[in-house]
Amino acid sequence: MVKICCIGAGYVGGPTMAVIALKCPEIEVAVVDISVSRITAWNSDALPIYEPGLDEVVKKCRGKNLFFSSDVEKHVSEADIVFVSVNTPTKTQGLGAGKAADLTYWESAARMIADVSKSNKIVVEKSTVPVKTAEAIEKILTHNSKGIDFQILSNPEFLAEGTAIQDLFNPDRVLIGGRETPEGQKAIAALRDVYAHWVPVDRIICSNLWSAELSKLAANAFLAQRISSVNAMSALCEATGADVSQVSHAVGKDTRIGPKFLNASVGFGGSCFQKDILNLVYICECNGLPEVANYWKQVIKINDYQKTRFVNRIVSSMFNTVSGKKIAILGFAFKKDTGDTRETPAIDVCKGLLGDKALLSIYDPQVNEEQIQRDLAMKKFDWDHPVHLQPMSPTSIKQVNVVWDAYAATKDAHGVCILTEWDEFKTLDYQRIYDNMRKPAFIFDGRNVVDEAKLRAIGFIVYSIGKPLDQWLKDMPAVA
Ligand code: NAD
Ligand code: UGA
Repeated sequence: MVKICCIGAGYVGGPTMAVIALKCPEIEVAVVDISVSRITAWNSDALPIYEPGLDEVVKKCRGKNLFFSSDVEKHVSEADIVFVSVNTPTKTQGLGAGKAADLTYWESAARMIADVSKSNKIVVEKSTVPVKTAEAIEKILTHNSKGIDFQILSNPEFLAEGTAIQDLFNPDRVLIGGRETPEGQKAIAALRDVYAHWVPVDRIICSNLWSAELSKLAANAFLAQRISSVNAMSALCEATGADVSQVSHAVGKDTRIGPKFLNASVGFGGSCFQKDILNLVYICECNGLPEVANYWKQVIKINDYQKTRFVNRIVSSMFNTVSGKKIAILGFAFKKDTGDTRETPAIDVCKGLLGDKALLSIYDPQVNEEQIQRDLAMKKFDWDHPVHLQPMSPTSIKQVNVVWDAYAATKDAHGVCILTEWDEFKTLDYQRIYDNMRKPAFIFDGRNVVDEAKLRAIGFIVYSIGKPLDQWLKDMPAVA
C-alpha cells in the first residue's frame, strides 16, 4: 500500500489530503502537525476549519485510510510520499524583512524528514515557496541523507477558501514540477498517478521545478492584479458618476479578459495574495529587476489605498468624526463561506475606525470574539505562524463589542459597514435596522451586496464602492 504523509494540517494540508484519501481508497494518508490542538480538532466533530463539504469528506475516510496525528516522525518515516504544507510567512526581521518568505518551518520540516527517513522518498512542496526553494531543500536532504534517495517535486496548490472541496474535486489544473532526470521524471509520474484517480490527465501539467514554483506566485499575482485594477477603476467611477459593476460587466464580456475576479471591493484579503506578491517583489529585487518589482508592488499599494479610501469615506461623510459613535461591522472574514480572517480587509478598516475613536459592534456568522480581538491586537504578519507560537491572547480592546446577530450589531448604530459578502446580508430586514439606528443612518457597502435604491427609499444614506455617489457624499468629499 502506498503511504502518503502530509506535514501541516492547515487550510491546505487538511482538505487536500482528505480529498486524496477519498479518491484513492488504496492509499493510506496521514496528516501530521506540531500543533496538538489542531490535530485534536481534526479528530473531533468540530473540525478546525470551516469549509463547505469538508465534514462529509472527512467523515467518509477518517479512521479508514485518513489519519490525523501529532506523531510527526513516525508517519514521515513510514511514508513513500511526503507533502510539506507548512506556513511560509513573510519575514518580519532581518534580511528581506517585510517582503521575503520566512522558510524556518519549511527548513525544520526538511531537516526532520532527513533525520527520520530510512527509505527513499518523494518530498512534495505543497506550501507556496520562493523560486529555487526546491534546490535549498534538496541540499538539506542530500547532505543529511545517509544514502537515501530523495526526489523533490513542486506541486503548488491553487484551491481557494470557501470553495476548497469543489476546487480539489474539479481543479482547472494540477501542476507538478520536477527534475528533468530519469529519477525526477519517475517521481513526477508517481505523483501524477495519484491525481489521475480523479483528475483528467490533460489537466495534469508537468514542468520543471522552477516553472512550477514561479507559476504559483505568478497566478496569485495575476489574480490580485485584476482586483486592484477594478478597485482602481472604482475610485474613478465614484469621481465621474460611472458605475463599476457596469464597467466590469462590459469589460469582462471581452472573451480575452473574461468576467471572473472583477468585483470591486474594500480590498482583497486572505493569507496569500499579499504575502506571495511581496515574495515575488523580493525575488525580482534580488535578481536585479527593480522595474518589475515596482510593477507588482503597485498591486499591494492600490489594495492599501482602497482600504484607506473606504475608512476616509466613512469618517468624512459622518461630519468628519466617528469619535464615540457606534459603527456596526457586518462581516469580518476575508470572504464569505469561510471563518478565516487572515489579512482580512476588516482588520485595517476596523483599526482605521478605532484610530478615529469609533465604538465598533462586530458581527460575522463564522468568526468569534476571541479571534476578532486577537486580529485587532496582533502585529502585521504575526498571524502566519503555528498557533502555539503566536503571541498569547492580548487584552481585549474595550471599544470593540462582538455580537452574534446583525440586528444587535446595528441597534443604535450611526453607521453600518458591510465588509464580507455573506449571503445573509442581502436579505436582512433593512427597514427594521433603519428604525433602530440613529439618524441620519449610513450604510457603507464594501462588497456591493445591498440594493442601494431600496435602501435609499427606506431613508439610508448609502455608499457602495465604485457606484454613483449620493448627494450627501458628494457634499462631504473624502481626502484620499
Ligand atoms: P496553515 O497555517 O493553516 O497550516 C500550516 C500548518 O503547518 C499549521 O497547522 C502549523 O502548525 C503546521 N506546521 C508548521 N511547521 C510545522 C512543522 N515543522 N511540523 C509539523 N507541522 C508544522 O497554513 P495554510 O493556509 O494551510 O498554508 C500552508 C501553505 O500553503 C502556505 O505556504 C500557503 O501559502 C500555501 N497555500 C495556502 C492556500 C490557502 O488557501 N490557505 C492556498 C494555496 C497555497
Ligand atoms: C486565492 C486564490 O484564488 C487561490 O487560487 C490560491 O490558491 C489561494 O489564494 C492561495 O494561494 O492562498 P483565496 O485567498 O482563498 O484564494 O480566495 P479568493 O477567492 O482568491 O479571494 C481573495 C480575496 O480577494 C478575498 O478577500 C476576496 O473577497 C477578494 N476578491 C476576490 C475581490 O475583492 N474581488 C474579486 O472579484 C474576487
